[in-house]
Amino acid sequence: MSNLEQTLSIIKPDAVERNLDNEIKDMFKNNGFKIVKEKKIQIEKFEAEKFYKVHETKPFYNDLCTYLSSGPIVVMILEKENAILANRDLMGATNPKDATDGTIRKKYGISIDKNSVHGSDSYENSKIEIDFFFKD
Ligand code: CDP
Ligand code: MG
Repeated sequence: MSNLEQTLSIIKPDAVERNLDNEIKDMFKNNGFKIVKEKKIQIEKFEAEKFYKVHETKPFYNDLCTYLSSGPIVVMILEKENAILANRDLMGATNPKDATDGTIRKKYGISIDKNSVHGSDSYENSKIEIDFFFKD
């Protein structure tokens, strides 16, 4: 049965700063993702706080929000069969040290905080996150 999904992807400041956005976009395309919408933006810290609200009780929350708002990011809607899980697989583990070969975080991630990409982790969150950046 077909299950075409959309998911939200973010190329984070560490990767955009190193001009890796086109290489990372090619990885998505080469793995069968269609980039339905994309924009390069910089967000304010209060917006990062809203985006990452699920993590507000975590010790890394403040640094995470400072970081995500520290420079330009590329936000994209990716489309593919089972896109949410497929994107999580292509991203690799949160900590690049634990990411397996062939994943984006293994190839480009610097550290657990500067791990180059974000991807929605569930169907429900994909809807919320796509709306967050592309509701107009
Ligand atoms: O991004 P992912 O869904 O893989 O991980 P998360 O657990 O939802 O955490 C969100 C983001 O917080 C991560 O991608 C990291 O950038 C950051 N983080 C961190 O800086 N330190 C941690 N111990 C855990 C996460
Ligand atoms: Mg997450």
